[in-house]
Amino acid sequence: MNKITVVGAGNVGATLAQRIAEKELAREVVLVDIVEGIPQGKGLDQWQSSPIEGFDTRIVGANDYGPSAGSDIFVVTAGIARKPGMSRDDLVKTNTEIVKSVSQQIRDCSPDSTVIVVSNPLDVMCWVAKKVTGFPRERVIGMAGVLDTARYRSFLALEIGVSVEDIQAMVLGGHGDSMVPLVSYTTVSGIPVTQLINRKRLDEIVERTRKGGAEIVGHLKTGSAYYAPSAAAVQMVESIVRDKKRILPCAAWLEGEYGLRGLYLGVPCKLGSGGLEQIIEVELSSKEQVALNKSAEQVRATMESVSL
Ligand code: APR
Repeated sequence: MNKITVVGAGNVGATLAQRIAEKELAREVVLVDIVEGIPQGKGLDQWQSSPIEGFDTRIVGANDYGPSAGSDIFVVTAGIARKPGMSRDDLVKTNTEIVKSVSQQIRDCSPDSTVIVVSNPLDVMCWVAKKVTGFPRERVIGMAGVLDTARYRSFLALEIGVSVEDIQAMVLGGHGDSMVPLVSYTTVSGIPVTQLINRKRLDEIVERTRKGGAEIVGHLKTGSAYYAPSAAAVQMVESIVRDKKRILPCAAWLEGEYGLRGLYLGVPCKLGSGGLEQIIEVELSSKEQVALNKSAEQVRATMESVSL
């Protein structure tokens, strides 16, 4: 893999660029931002960590898309982040304009690239990117489920007192309070989680997961989470770059899967060199399907507030 461009050199974008370089997932990482000097300065600083960390990936910063031409992957983190009291949907107006302009640039300079969207409100920003680039659904995917699942797994591991590595789980639905942690598919090394934790505690953990982003905004006050979000996006990048074909919960454009069509929503996706290679349809309990439908309604309501 040759080149990966990260758009937005803020908290999420800069951390992402560093993580991609440290894993040598590309020969070159281009960091693009509208603020003059920020991507150049951060890119140079990050690249100078390469002799210490031992990576040969070159990181360069730019205010235009010239250096990013021909990128294989774009990760879009441009936009404003939440402040306390704001929902992800409160960002919709500003971030739609930003993601629109970024998508036009991607379409023009790298028409064969795959786009991973991180900007919020996630599911709706994915739709904006897909519509503006005109790319097929295989090449426009959103990062949300890996992060929500990581939060859920962290809380469960702490509660049960086991390694996070042994918690298998999947959080589906929109990236908001209506997300759907699949309790029926949550296991600890194959053991159904309900055998290891009582229902009341499990419900509390599910609730904390739903509000996981807001909990961090509440602490930070001046912005939103970025260490776990950047790690989550890198896991998606890695599955594509290395053609690992991992099954990860990602926002994907639905065309009838789970009885839904014409929107982005978090579902289990197989990611490989072809981008989104398959959407896996798993059996849901009726309660989970109802929750997924409700989540879809919320995403649709936000889509309706956007004119493209
Ligand atoms: N093109 C490129 N970069 C842009 C553009 C644009 N049109 N508009 C804004 N940016 C840049 C800003 O200059 C800033 O450096 O996007 C960056 C955003 O960085 P932060 O404010 O630090 O926000 P961050 O925490 O990184 O979150 C970015 O990801 O998780 C989501 O909700 C979050 O939508 C937010 C996005």
